[in-house]
Amino acid sequence: MKDFVFHVPTKIFFGEGHAADFANEVKAYGSKALIVYGGGSVKQNGIYDDIVGALHDAGVETVDHGGIEPNPRVDSVRAGVEKAKEHDIDIVVPIGGGSTIDAAKLIAASTVSGGEPWDIVIKKQAVTGALPIASVLTLAATGSEMDSGSVITNLETKEKLGWGSPEVLPKTSLLNPAYTKTVSPYQTASGTADIMSHTMENYFSIDDSAYLEDSFSEGLLRTCIHYGPLAVKEPDNLEARSNLMWASSWAINGLLKSGKTQSWSVHPMEHELSAYFDITHGVGLAILTPRWLRHLLSDKTAPKIARFGRRVFDIREEDDMKAAEEAIDTLYDFFKSIDIPMSLREVGVEEDALEKMAKSCIEHAGGVIRGFVDLHEDDVLAIYKACF
Ligand code: NZQ
Ligand code: ZN
Repeated sequence: MKDFVFHVPTKIFFGEGHAADFANEVKAYGSKALIVYGGGSVKQNGIYDDIVGALHDAGVETVDHGGIEPNPRVDSVRAGVEKAKEHDIDIVVPIGGGSTIDAAKLIAASTVSGGEPWDIVIKKQAVTGALPIASVLTLAATGSEMDSGSVITNLETKEKLGWGSPEVLPKTSLLNPAYTKTVSPYQTASGTADIMSHTMENYFSIDDSAYLEDSFSEGLLRTCIHYGPLAVKEPDNLEARSNLMWASSWAINGLLKSGKTQSWSVHPMEHELSAYFDITHGVGLAILTPRWLRHLLSDKTAPKIARFGRRVFDIREEDDMKAAEEAIDTLYDFFKSIDIPMSLREVGVEEDALEKMAKSCIEHAGGVIRGFVDLHEDDVLAIYKACF
């Protein structure tokens, strides 16, 4: 195992009945909150009223900033920064999925650090501070509720890029699984695929001395495989919603990568798809992952993929290469079984954009994606083509 530092001081309130506790925690950071939310689902399902009511009861004044898009755009962030400054906001409270929380992170950082928000994303400007963030998660997927990353889209430059800073790690997050009962089967399946992808990005590496972390990963993957389909079929199943929600936070908060050398491969390829065609993040990952594994399957990678198949999908095959092939097919079938469209064509990606996206993916990665196996532009293009 490699040396590492693990420091994730986000205070989690998990379960029903914590809205008042959460509001009191917010109050400890200030008395004026910017409420950031998306297209309105939180107003229809009552979550907005629950949280804003609890904040008012705790003596926190609120200012609304709604309309954050899935694949959140930098324009919505700019408008949020203006509001935060105009109203002298003390704390940012996103209520939503990853898009809302990610937008809130850039609002919080840009309000304090000054300048143009996009410059923080492209690392032209340093994050010198941020307003505190207290998030209310309504969709189990990205892990943004317990990590310091954020992914923002710029429609003008056709870029969707990740950035991060310890300054935007949420101080506290409210995880009430009952809040996810209204998530559609499509978004539930996509969220499950996203949690699995975060886990697999950490899991698939050649150095294998981190037995403990890989065993945590296998447990998380088994949890998603067991409860993802249940939550898709039975939206009110609280046991399924609870397990998925807690899995989402642990898949990406640093636990699974501790002690390992790893860098992500599938996410950079997916971010191009979302940037060019605004597709749903988790769906893009599900389409890409089996094709990525198939592309890099070799005598060197087969043992790890076979281990994944045996421990996650209970594959019995003893030959590593055959077990790895079976694992990849089983993963594909799993995503299909939860009704994820499994080709790029089905989600509206145009074939003549593949070359452009492969080029831009490699440019954003600095010339090569250094992951389980290094990927160059021709590898990315071949993987995109295999997804058609
Ligand atoms: O817009 P609203 O009304 O909120 O509706 C949303 C949206 O339409 C809806 N939804 C959320 N909670 C709901 C609900 N509908 C009914 N009931 C509820 N309780 O679901 C739709 C999708 O929401 P979104 O926030 O976009 O989904 P998700 O959580 O999957 O976030 C995706 C974004 O996060 C980024 C992705 O790239 C993408 O932009 N990621 C962020 C990461 C991070 N911060 O660490 C890592 C991830 O790998 C990922 O890249
Ligand atoms: Zn993701």
